[in-house]
Amino acid sequence: LSQTGVSTGEAPVAAAPAADSAKLTILYGSQTGNAEGVAKQLKEKADAAGVAADVFSMGDYKPNKLKNEKLLAIVASTHGEGEPPDDAEELHGFLVGKKAPKLDGARYSVLGLGDSSYEFFCQTGKDFDERLGKLGAESFVPRVDCDVDYDDAVAEWIDKVVAEAKSLTSVAATPVAAATAAAPAASQFNKKNPYNASLLTNQKITGRDSIKDIRHIEIDLEGSGLQYQPGDALGVWFQNDEALVDELLSLVKADGGTDVDGKSLRQALIEDYELTLSYPGFIKAVAEATGEKGLAELAADAGKLRDYIADRQIIDIVRDYPLELTVEQLTGALRKMAPRLYSIASSQAEVDEEVHLTVGVVRYDAHGQEHMGGASGFLSERLEEGGDVKVFIEHNNNFRLPENPETPIVMIGPGTGVAPFRAFMQQREADGIEGNSWMFFGNPHFTQDFLYQVEWQSYLKSGVLGRMDVAWSRDQAEKVYVQHRIVEQGAELYQWLEKGAHVYVCGDANHMAKDVHQALQTVIQQHGGKSEEDAQQYLTDLRKAKRYQRDVY
Ligand code: 2AM
Repeated sequence: LSQTGVSTGEAPVAAAPAADSAKLTILYGSQTGNAEGVAKQLKEKADAAGVAADVFSMGDYKPNKLKNEKLLAIVASTHGEGEPPDDAEELHGFLVGKKAPKLDGARYSVLGLGDSSYEFFCQTGKDFDERLGKLGAESFVPRVDCDVDYDDAVAEWIDKVVAEAKSLTSVAATPVAAATAAAPAASQFNKKNPYNASLLTNQKITGRDSIKDIRHIEIDLEGSGLQYQPGDALGVWFQNDEALVDELLSLVKADGGTDVDGKSLRQALIEDYELTLSYPGFIKAVAEATGEKGLAELAADAGKLRDYIADRQIIDIVRDYPLELTVEQLTGALRKMAPRLYSIASSQAEVDEEVHLTVGVVRYDAHGQEHMGGASGFLSERLEEGGDVKVFIEHNNNFRLPENPETPIVMIGPGTGVAPFRAFMQQREADGIEGNSWMFFGNPHFTQDFLYQVEWQSYLKSGVLGRMDVAWSRDQAEKVYVQHRIVEQGAELYQWLEKGAHVYVCGDANHMAKDVHQALQTVIQQHGGKSEEDAQQYLTDLRKAKRYQRDVY
């Protein structure tokens, strides 16, 4: 992928003293595409307002160009435990390194995307803000930290940035015709206007004695016009459990029939509010509204608050503190629901107007009650076959099969991380591509947890899959994980890398993806005869060449 938006709509710069100050440079760091989408929206609005703007992925931007910038807009998401997205890593590190330039005279504004249920909420955006400030740049629109439901906050930030940028860019820019109007959407359906699909299949694909409950889900998209590619995700708007909603209503003594946004409060709680997570904002808002002492103490102590909400859902908080709340207090404290994104496990070349998912059901006992995940509970238990589920496609250009069919691929996807690789295999089979593919899979037990075992065996047999290495973590005394297999097969894996292989990692971000990264580094050190630093650089170069792509959560 090359730089995006280069030169389209850039206003001709008159012979002005400071030509650079007439241009807004937009840099995004994006893991799943949300920050990229925001950056491109900003670019469009800037173009429409006659403000010349360029937009770059941080991964495609040379950090030493920073010293020439006069006007910067940064859009950065945060993932895992406060970490920058892969494409932002280099710039993020550069700003605190020895080579970081003085940025006196530059102006910037930061928009962070994050999830307030995590401790290090919007940390990457905060880091950029702090680091740019330290280097002498001045903020021209205050940083905004956006939560999962970010559309309104984003629109407001974009308007401010464009207005300020327009007044700061002194050169009269010729307004540009709608040169960058968005490409026509292939389908009328999107996040705000999802397609009402129906469930075709819900099948448990872990064994009876498995410690996991993983479902193969098939959804019918017929007539929707929705199109996706291997690597894309499906956004799912789920419905909360009615029993949970009724218990909540009775605990807070609110009337479920009250009108909220044109529907009953009960229906709104089922469809529009986040009940199966917990987030500090809920406790803070309820403490403030009611003055309840215990909650106020919790709200005031970040550490205690984090421990308290760790394995609780909203219902647990209300069970602990059964306070009467008005409808406004309740809906004001609750967060608006965010759809869940699932990596798609099918290719349309194989399944046509269907979409398949591999869903790990979240179910655990805590505080004397059984708990279920919101979306996984909906898909696996509450949605009947033939029932309605609202969906949309979330495109992910950062997880794509190589364009050249000869390019080898290495797929690393333990647990539900297997999903996009099933899509890859379906696609390659349909395209008639044989071999040059290597899958690493892991799960607790061979007999219980070999997801899609029959399919993998048939891909191996037909040659669509070249080889497969598996790690059954609990089939022996010592844990064996995919990263151990990677190191064991290091000599050959290094040869694949040298042949130009693309490496894909999907699954757990907190532990697996880090350990796999470390294992790849070890392989490159051991078999490439490289120092630790050179091996790190090798991986950075792979990432920049889009040969190391991750879909981790
Ligand atoms: P475990 O649950 O037996 O520890 C999919 O969840 C598989 O990933 C399971 O076999 C799980 O093993 C394993 N797993 C757990 N932690 C991991 C890590 N840090 N790296 C790789 N795999 C891990």
